[in-house]
Amino acid sequence: MTGGAGYIGSHTVRLLLERGYDVAVVDNLSKGYRQNVPAGLLHEMDVASTSALTGLMRQLKTEAVVHFAAFIAVGESMAEPERYFVNNVTGSLSLLSAMHAAGVKHLVFSSTAAVYGNPHAVPILETFPIQPMSPYGESKVMVETLLGWFDRIHHLTSVCLRYFNAAGSAPDGALGEQHEPETHLIPLVLRAVLSGKPVTIFGEDYDTPDGTCIRDYIHVEDLAEAHILALEYLLAGGSSDQFNVGTGSGHSVVEVIRAVEEVTGQKVPYVTGTRREGDPASLVASSDKLQSKLGWQPRSSELKTIVKHAWDFARQHT
Ligand code: UFG
Repeated sequence: MTGGAGYIGSHTVRLLLERGYDVAVVDNLSKGYRQNVPAGLLHEMDVASTSALTGLMRQLKTEAVVHFAAFIAVGESMAEPERYFVNNVTGSLSLLSAMHAAGVKHLVFSSTAAVYGNPHAVPILETFPIQPMSPYGESKVMVETLLGWFDRIHHLTSVCLRYFNAAGSAPDGALGEQHEPETHLIPLVLRAVLSGKPVTIFGEDYDTPDGTCIRDYIHVEDLAEAHILALEYLLAGGSSDQFNVGTGSGHSVVEVIRAVEEVTGQKVPYVTGTRREGDPASLVASSDKLQSKLGWQPRSSELKTIVKHAWDFARQHT
């Protein structure tokens, strides 16, 4: 696995180990945390190091790769597109070359709802037009395209999981969301409760019932489960495909704030600011395909459960 020291990766490592898989983590620790990976599993390595990756996969007789390692901040990608294309696209190409050299035939790829840009309707189906609005989203589209060619020419099968808004944390508080800098709504709202410094709502003039943006928040453990199902599907001979990973229901920024108030029993200090550039009004997944083809079901993605787990983690780690 690449990027297994990061947020979603570390939860997936844990679930894979619980299910009895042999896991090796490749992470350069540029964003991830050493303590997120169980002792002995971490190979501190960059995905750009093609020959080192080839050697490692040969040595470990790797059967499949789950590829998380990437930069993820949409806003940063608008300011520094080169870094996003180099890290996310050439990094992935290096990994794919290494997999080909080592004879590894299956990959689960972390894609994103950002491939759809500003969709014409919700819920979003996998067949909707691909029209990213940022270098971040474009970098994921480019890797999805590479994967199509690696399948066609080298018979490397892959599943692209297009994540909606990953949130929450392991219920025991051992792992959780720790981005630096943090840009995501739920951890920022929780920080506002803990610090007393207001969080800013980015716009309340959207065409939504309360005027704030609607997103599809999915518990990180449900997201981790989707990776296991995708892996098992590929190992059983499934053909390459793309799936949305979301719950099918959306919550506005104000609803998230209210849920945090209910869970924490405290008022959230907030101010209302202007829109953040590039934010679509509403992003909600149809996950029908994931449910019907891979048998996935969200189990922990009720908003209050997500917020409760995120709150337990934030209290311990802030
Ligand atoms: N928001 C605020 N204030 C903040 C932070 C966020 O109001 O301080 C709002 C945003 O405007 C947005 C919502 O809260 O409406 C969620 O914002 P996040 O930054 O938490 O998440 P995004 O929906 O912008 O981004 C997520 C992933 C991206 C992915 C995208 C898919 O983090 O990696 O979904 O479109 F690309």
